Amino acid sequence: MSEQQKSALIVGASRGLGLGLVETFAGRGWRVTATQRSPSPGLARLASDSVRVETVDIDDDSAVATLRDRLGGETFDLIFVVAGVATQAHEPLHAVPRAVAAQVYLTNAVSPIRLAEAFRESVRPGGTLALMSSVLGSVALNESGGWETYRASKAALNTYARSFEIRHRDAGLGVLLMHPGWVRTDMGGAEADIDVATSVAGMADVIEGRLGRSGVAYLDYRGETLAW
Ligand SMILES: NC(=O)c1ccc[n+]([C@@H]2O[C@H](COP(=O)([O-])OP(=O)(O)OC[C@H]3O[C@@H](n4cnc5c(N)ncnc54)[C@H](OP(=O)(O)O)[C@@H]3O)[C@@H](O)[C@H]2O)c1
Repeated sequence: MSEQQKSALIVGASRGLGLGLVETFAGRGWRVTATQRSPSPGLARLASDSVRVETVDIDDDSAVATLRDRLGGETFDLIFVVAGVATQAHEPLHAVPRAVAAQVYLTNAVSPIRLAEAFRESVRPGGTLALMSSVLGSVALNESGGWETYRASKAALNTYARSFEIRHRDAGLGVLLMHPGWVRTDMGGAEADIDVATSVAGMADVIEGRLGRSGVAYLDYRGETLAW
């Protein structure tokens, strides 16, 4: 690995946007550690000297700790938690079983921040912690309703991320809450606006352009700031 080679840990990379981010960063010369929950054919195809595949379920704190220990003292320019779920997202809160609503909250809001806390010292000085949010996490921009449990979970993620950044401000890391656009993935569906390649190229541009900047920002894949 050359001294200048950037490195990323991309969590939740078995398919969709995570897989696309792995391919894009590796294509830009980064060394990438990518995680899956179970064997991913897409990641198996990308595995190489510059793409290492690890396994973790972000809802499992002990698995997160085991991954951190396995990676030892390795540090990254970017840690990007992409994993997320949208279970029964089309139904209003009152129609969703409590356990389902709670699980969406845990996976989308609690687990990414707990992972960030566990890996905080694995972000290099001047590095970036990115968390996959959504425009649907914006309270201010919610003028159409719908996607209630999902919206609330991403709004909670935004809130936790701001507190995380304040708690660790002395460390000088950059915290990015990213909206990838409405993207054609299993979650986004076939009618979505843009393809994975467009979204991940935009997010990679935004991230590369902000390396070394501290503070917290809520941005879309074109680098536009979103209202909280
Ligand atoms: N697509 C869009 O239009 C859109 C818009 C805004 C935000 N987002 C956000 O972007 C992220 C990726 O979405 P996507 O469209 O690529 O969705 P996707 O195709 O459904 O992929 C979701 C990914 O998250 C992983 N994952 C889910 N729960 C996990 C857990 N507990 N631990 C580890 N990995 C887990 C999945 O792994 P498995 O393969 O093991 O299930 C999969 O790799 C999500 O956070 C989503 O909310 C997407």
